Amino acid sequence: MEVKEVLEYAKETCGDIIFKTHYLYPFTTENIDGYLDLFDLKDKSLLTVGSSGDQVINALVMGCEDVTLYDKVFESKYYYYLKCAGILTLTREEYLKFFAGFEEIDRYYTKNHEFFNKEIFDKLKPALKYLNSDAYYYFDELFNLFDNKQIREGLFTADEDRPKALKVFNRYLHTESLYEKARKKIEKIEPVFIQGDILDLDPDRKYDNIWFSNIANYLGLRKVPLMAARAYNALNDNGKVLLCYLYATQATSKYERGWTDVYNLKRLYKKVEAYEYELKSFEGVYPISSRYYSEGEDKDSVLILTKKKQ
Ligand SMILES: C[S@@+](CC[C@H](N)C(=O)[O-])C[C@H]1O[C@@H](n2cnc3c(N)ncnc32)[C@H](O)[C@@H]1O
Repeated sequence: MEVKEVLEYAKETCGDIIFKTHYLYPFTTENIDGYLDLFDLKDKSLLTVGSSGDQVINALVMGCEDVTLYDKVFESKYYYYLKCAGILTLTREEYLKFFAGFEEIDRYYTKNHEFFNKEIFDKLKPALKYLNSDAYYYFDELFNLFDNKQIREGLFTADEDRPKALKVFNRYLHTESLYEKARKKIEKIEPVFIQGDILDLDPDRKYDNIWFSNIANYLGLRKVPLMAARAYNALNDNGKVLLCYLYATQATSKYERGWTDVYNLKRLYKKVEAYEYELKSFEGVYPISSRYYSEGEDKDSVLILTKKKQ
C-alpha cells in the first residue's frame, strides 16, 4: 500500500468525525507483562498482531530478534515507528505524556497538555525520519493539518488505560533500564510488517511464537478451529501460539449468558482438543486498571497451544 493512499484515508477520518473502518490502539489493552514469561522469546521468532506496537516492543526487550507485526491495520507500521521515535527521543515520563492521555478515564488526562503535542512531535521528527521515511511523511502531514484531538479521534480507538496501568502491562516501561534496553533494540532490529487477516495467515516461513491477542473475542468460537489451524501451520516444532487472551477469566470462571462465546471455556477447549493446550492465568487488567480499584481477585488468562513434534 502507498503512503499517499493511507494518508488520504487519515485526512478524511481526522478532518471529519466519520465512522472508521479500522483504527489503531494507542497502547495495548492487555497485561502483556503477565504472559511474557510464558514464551521463550530470547533469540527466537515471533509473529504478533498489535497495532499499538506494544507487543513488538515488549518482545524486543525480552531478546526477540526476529519479529513480524501481522495486523489487518496497515497503519500499525507507521504508528510503531512513531512510538519508536518517542522512545529514542523522550524520557519514559515524557513518552507516556505524549502517547497516553486523551481519554478522560482519569482526571489526570484533562491536565495533560503534552498529549500529541505538536512541539513534542517536532522534537521526535528527526528520529522518525531516520527510522522510516513513509511514517515521517504520514505523521508530519497529519500534525501540520490537524490538532491533537482530531488526530486521536481520527486514527485511534478510545480504548486506553491509565498511565499507571500501562506501566504495569508494558515491561519496557517498568524501569529506566528496561526503557533503555528498548531504545537499544529498536535501533538494532527491524521488524517485518505484513497487513493481513489472521484467518488468511499462510506465511512462507515458520515462527517459534505467535500471538493472536484477543481477536477470538471478535471472531467468535466458530472461527477458533480455523485460527488454531492457521497458527499451527505457521509454527515451528515446539512453537507456541497465544490463541486467545481472556479478560477477567481463569480456569474456574463460570460462563455467564450474554458473554462472548469464547469465554465459555468448556466449549473453547472442545474447539482445540486436537492440540496440546493449556490455560495460564496471571494478574489481570481490571484489578490493576479499574477506575474503582477492586480487591484484585480477577485474573486474566491466555490459552496457549504448543506444537509438538509429529
Ligand atoms: C483485537 S485488537 C484489541 C487490542 C489488543 N487487546 C491489544 O492489546 O493490542 C488487537 C489487534 O488485532 C488486530 N486485528 C483484529 N482482528 C484482526 C484480524 N482478523 N486479523 C488481523 N488483525 C486483526 C487489530 O487491528 C488490533 O491491532
